[in-house]
Amino acid sequence: MCGIVAYLGDKEAQPLLLEGLRRLEYRGYDSSGIAILNGKGLETVKKVGRIQNLENALALHPLHGSLGISHTRWATHGKATDVNAHPHIDASGKLALVHNGVIENYSLLKRKLEEKGLKFRTETDTEVLAFLIGFHFDSLDAAMDNRLEVAVMEALREVTGTYGLVAVHEDQPDIMVGARRGSPLVLGIGPHEHFLASDVSAIAAHTQTVAHLRDFDVVTIDRQGYRLKSLSQNQAGLEISQIDYQAAEATLGDFPHYMLKEIFEQTMSVQNAVRGRLNLEESTAQLGGLNLTPQDLREIDRILITGCGTAMHAGMVGEYIIESLAHVPVEIDYASEFRLRNSPLDRRTLVLAVSQSGETEDTLGALREARRKGHRVLGICNNVASTLARETDGGVYMYAGPEISVAATKSFTSQVVIFVLLGMLLGRMRFLSASQGREMIEAIEALPDQITTVLRQSDHIRQVAEKYRHSKSMLFFGRQMQYGIALEGALKMKEITYIHAEGHPTAELKHGVIALIDENTPSVFLCPRDGAYDKNINNLQQVRARKGPVIAVATEGDTEIQNHADDIFFIPDAPEYTAPILSVITLQLFAYHMAVILGRDVDKPRNLAKSVTVP
Ligand code: G6P
Repeated sequence: MCGIVAYLGDKEAQPLLLEGLRRLEYRGYDSSGIAILNGKGLETVKKVGRIQNLENALALHPLHGSLGISHTRWATHGKATDVNAHPHIDASGKLALVHNGVIENYSLLKRKLEEKGLKFRTETDTEVLAFLIGFHFDSLDAAMDNRLEVAVMEALREVTGTYGLVAVHEDQPDIMVGARRGSPLVLGIGPHEHFLASDVSAIAAHTQTVAHLRDFDVVTIDRQGYRLKSLSQNQAGLEISQIDYQAAEATLGDFPHYMLKEIFEQTMSVQNAVRGRLNLEESTAQLGGLNLTPQDLREIDRILITGCGTAMHAGMVGEYIIESLAHVPVEIDYASEFRLRNSPLDRRTLVLAVSQSGETEDTLGALREARRKGHRVLGICNNVASTLARETDGGVYMYAGPEISVAATKSFTSQVVIFVLLGMLLGRMRFLSASQGREMIEAIEALPDQITTVLRQSDHIRQVAEKYRHSKSMLFFGRQMQYGIALEGALKMKEITYIHAEGHPTAELKHGVIALIDENTPSVFLCPRDGAYDKNINNLQQVRARKGPVIAVATEGDTEIQNHADDIFFIPDAPEYTAPILSVITLQLFAYHMAVILGRDVDKPRNLAKSVTVP
């Protein structure tokens, strides 16, 4: 949440920082700012609203200099205003700080600094940290070469909370200091330049050589290079790696929005999640990254899946898939709940943490809680360089490529197909026969063509969205493997259109939700041809009897459904474990078209952020 880019090198910093901020805008976009040291002093420009506002301001008064820090914000403490935007400046006006995370004891620190006569300008926790570092800097000997580094370290020893930060000071004009605890920070190493950023996407166009800071690392960069210290007892040491990241993948191409591009990429991203993981000879899946022996896998007698938002919904589909294919009991819990719960897990319980970014604070909290209690935790993750990837015992990468739109789409279908692979792997070690395994492989291999068929309905779905554009509220119903899809369909709709939307297990309709039905409240029923079809149609009729408009997601060739629904999105015939991948795409398109029709900011919906790195 929030994005940081900092640069020290031999080029002009401003254009590099702005380009990096644009790539990070998906992390937060309430306000943004930049500070540059130009040899004479510190200059800062901050603007509320999108990065375009900052660019407009800088176009009029460009900042020159080859050392700079910048930030795009998603507000936690203090409203989104020019003054609350980062960088924050200390009491002397000479130190600038960009910060992601939350300083939990900021009120206490603020009071202490106020007692020393310092006057604050904002309500933010970051300003308190800037003042605190500045306070230490001013009390150190002006001749010290490592004055800023020491000031940052002394200040951070007083702090509880999380941070990824970069500080610069006018009196040490060729130095920047970065530090990390709980909020990612990556060092980019170029020939005559260095970057610090909260995400490799901000710097990948300039350098492929990176090192991820670990918690408590402090890195000091000057014109000669960098050095590392640690605030913990750990030996400081960075692991330098080459990133395989195509900056081009994160551009729009011919699509009007990233969300549409990413919806259409699903033909490929689902294949990428499966590539090399099907074992045709043995009719099973192979997932090398699990780091578990076949014996370990056989011994698992319970699985707990955890995550947030869309990843949680994928887990809910995964619960049904694994139970039905592998007969292993599965529990699912929101990461934010699980991390605070005293869940009685035992050694044979496997915890699966699902996260596109691998940086969601609650998911990391849940995985740390599980590991603290000695449980094996595996990750299902897209971001190979993420904290989740580093802190889990193993897992499965999604290889979906960068997902830029705040509303998750392709990551969801990749997560679901990985659950199918896991279900098949565990199932084949238990009950599934080779011929059942073969059928599953065929169903997985059919997906790319089936997804293409669903995508062809985009125009039809847009026309249906046009018809319901005046709706104030929508309901989504599904059961079993389609229940998670009902929740995800409702989430997509509310996230990007701001229409009130709720998802429910279909049969719960009668237990309260039915009171919401009227002629202006459309209901989307997920009713592919499966074991629950007849029951679904019964519920659907209860809505129609109360004049509620019905949109059905049904299986191609289902002629009966025409008699029951006002509008239909068809999906190809598929087994119940791959059908959710197809049905969700119709709802992604429905929400997308509705948002465009309503003139919403599709890729950057209000109040949201792609990666929520605060609890
Ligand atoms: C935020 C995003 C959602 C996402 C959730 C979990 O709320 O807006 O789209 O599903 O975080 O993110 P993760 O990266 O952990 O999958």
